[in-house]
Amino acid sequence: MRQLIAGNWKMNGLRAGLAEIRAVDRSLADEPANPLVLICPPATLLAEAAKTVDGGRVAIGAQDCHAEPAGAFTGDISAEMLRDAGATSVIVGHSERRQYHGESSADVARKAAAASRAGLTAIVCVGETEKERDAKKAVSVVTTQLAKSIPADLSVKHLVVAYEPVWAIGTGRTPSNVQILEMHAAARTALVKRFDKEAADIRILYGGSVKPSNAAEILGLKNVDGALVGGASLKASDFLAIIRAAPKR
Ligand code: 13P
Repeated sequence: MRQLIAGNWKMNGLRAGLAEIRAVDRSLADEPANPLVLICPPATLLAEAAKTVDGGRVAIGAQDCHAEPAGAFTGDISAEMLRDAGATSVIVGHSERRQYHGESSADVARKAAAASRAGLTAIVCVGETEKERDAKKAVSVVTTQLAKSIPADLSVKHLVVAYEPVWAIGTGRTPSNVQILEMHAAARTALVKRFDKEAADIRILYGGSVKPSNAAEILGLKNVDGALVGGASLKASDFLAIIRAAPKR
């Protein structure tokens, strides 16, 4: 399975930042189309970003969506609108949405269902807090989040999972290889329970302080099928280094 290297720009990026997306796309033009590359800029840049990379190596995704296709939901954006703007994927259930917007796993499942309804791939994020890890609950927290955040009837074609330990996001700290292996194996087992053999086709990304210096090691671990990159995806040179560190599978 080809790996997926996805950049989550979070609430960063003005129009000038489109040059970074263009630089990533153009730099990869003459390289083998492996791994898959996705950049999720803020919603304000989606349409322009999609135009910039049209027909190129980089796909464009969004960071959140509303569960309904349209309606009286001031300030919200539907999955259909994201697709219309040129997105191919949408991140749902990022820990920052769960934490600052009170999103529950049930909310996340509705958003993932909306993504698939609109023809988008849902990147469903899960991950434990440091307190939960210290209490030895990391595996149970993540498997429960997975069970509740993936809607019934979701096709594996429309699903990517991202394991992002909350304590590793934006902190420069990463789990040990043993911890990543344990969590990704647990996520795979949970997906096998749910999807049987098809679970082998679901990418499980690792996210949390991925940078050029640790990317090759993390991306080489079993059951790690790519990365969801925050801060290091904002600069083309760093993001390209991470993309080039991905094993060719
Ligand atoms: P950082 O790579 O900045 O730690 O962010 C990870 C993340 O939250 C990606 O969704």
